[in-house]
Order: sequence, then C-alpha cells, then structure tokens
Amino acid sequence: MTIDHFYTHKIEVPKDSSNWHDVGVPKSNFYIGMVSQVYRDSAYIQVENLSLFNHRNIRLESLIPNSINYFVVIDSVQGIFIAEVYQSRVNSSDSVHESMNRGIKENVYPEIAVNVIGILDGNKFKLAGLKTVGITDKVYIANNKLISIYLNSIEVNDYQIKDMHGNTIKHQKALENLMKLESSESQSLSLQPNTLFDRHLMVVGTTNSGKSTSSLTILDKLVSAEKKVW
Ligand SMILES: Nc1ncnc2c1ncn2[C@@H]1O[C@H](COP(=O)(O)OP(=O)(O)OP(=O)(O)O)[C@@H](O)[C@H]1O
Ligand SMILES: [Mg+2]
Repeated sequence: MTIDHFYTHKIEVPKDSSNWHDVGVPKSNFYIGMVSQVYRDSAYIQVENLSLFNHRNIRLESLIPNSINYFVVIDSVQGIFIAEVYQSRVNSSDSVHESMNRGIKENVYPEIAVNVIGILDGNKFKLAGLKTVGITDKVYIANNKLISIYLNSIEVNDYQIKDMHGNTIKHQKALENLMKLESSESQSLSLQPNTLFDRHLMVVGTTNSGKSTSSLTILDKLVSAEKKVW
C-alpha cells in the first residue's frame, strides 16, 4: 500500500455512480522534509525550509509543525514508518537571525529529530524490528487517518467473548475516550479493558502530572461499563 492511499479517499459522485473522485488533502500539504541522519530507533529530518514550519489549517486538519510531540510518517522502500517528533531546532548563526528578522524563511533549514515508533503492516503499525528508514526518505506530517491507525495499533489483541462451543459471541467493548492527543485534539484513545489489565499496569509521572486522576478515570469508565472492580 502506498502512502497516497492514506492522504486521499474515493467518494462516489451521486449523479453518476461510475464516476469516482479523489477527495482528501493531498500529501504535498503535509510534506515537511527528508531524512538526513539515521540511527537505530531515531532519525533526523532536514526540513526543506522554515516556511514549511508555518501553522496550517487544512480542512479539518490542524498542523503545528514548529513544536514537538506530533507524529510524522516516513515513506521508505521498507514501508511506511510512523515516528514522533521530540526535538526541533534551527542553527543559531547570525545569518539565520537576519533571515528570520527579515522574514526570509526560504534559506533557513530547520532540523527535527524523531523517534521511530513502528512500520505499517496491513492495517496496523507494528514494531519496526531491524527495519529502518533511509537517508533521503520523504517525511510527511501524519494526518488524522494515519493517527487513528496508530491509536488502533496500540491494541494488539482482540479480546473476544466466546460461548461454550468456542464460537465468538462478541468482542470486548472498548473503554472510550481514555486520553486525548495534544497534537490532535480530535483523536482520542480507546482501549479494551483487557488491554489495560491483561498483565500489569504502571502509571508513571512526576508529582502533579495526573496519575491519580488518570487512574480514577479508568476506574470510572470500568464502573460505567459494568465491569467488576475491586
Ligand atoms: N487530564 C487532565 N486535564 C486537566 N487537569 C488535570 C488532568 N489530570 C489531572 N489534572 C489536574 O492536575 C492536578 C494533579 O492531578 P493528580 O492529583 O491526579 O496528580 P498525581 O500525579 O496523582 O500527583 P501526586 O504525584 O501528587 O499524587 C489536579 O489538580 C488535577 O485536577
Ligand atoms: Mg496522586
């Protein structure tokens, strides 16, 4: 599956059902740059120029590429990788300041660093294993479609409720809206109760970061879903 698949989808034109149109925001609007350094779990991306860092609102997608903690996808011969931006910088030299002051964004080349999280395999992102991105691979800001595929990938198992003959009666209902992504307000995380409790669950964070509140939220959702809690 190519990356274009995720940046367009086909809709039928009502009057003439043989007529299909590509809609969606073309991926060129999400383009940010090329991979310039590759490490085992991370990569650096040379942003084409500073103007690509501008905040953009494209239909329902809001892109804020000059910060960190947002997702990008990397189009590589090995496949489509998803990565999270953890660092963003421009070289601090005189000429950069001058260019920025004069509003010339074309000759400032920012650099972003990303953690590579996974590679697309079927309809889920999986761990990349030994596969890595390559130098000059193109990088795009992940759109809502790709972010929701990533969020669905966190759920590795599909927990099913079976009858006495071993036939699946139903799937375990997910606890909805457990978390919102800072970079994409419209996306929220839903997980099946067993995904949380199959093994052990540890909540880590500094003082006042919301550990107790998050734990209470999970308990509250469990009670609402009529699950046994003790
Ligand atoms: N998702 C959230 N959105 C906004 N405010 C939040 C959120 N989660 C927690 N808070 C607020 O942050 C504060 C700290 O939350 P909480 O007590 O859960 O942190 P904690 O990690 O358990 O702290 P401690 O380490 O002191 O136990 C509270 O005032 C809480 O209302
Ligand atoms: Mg607490």
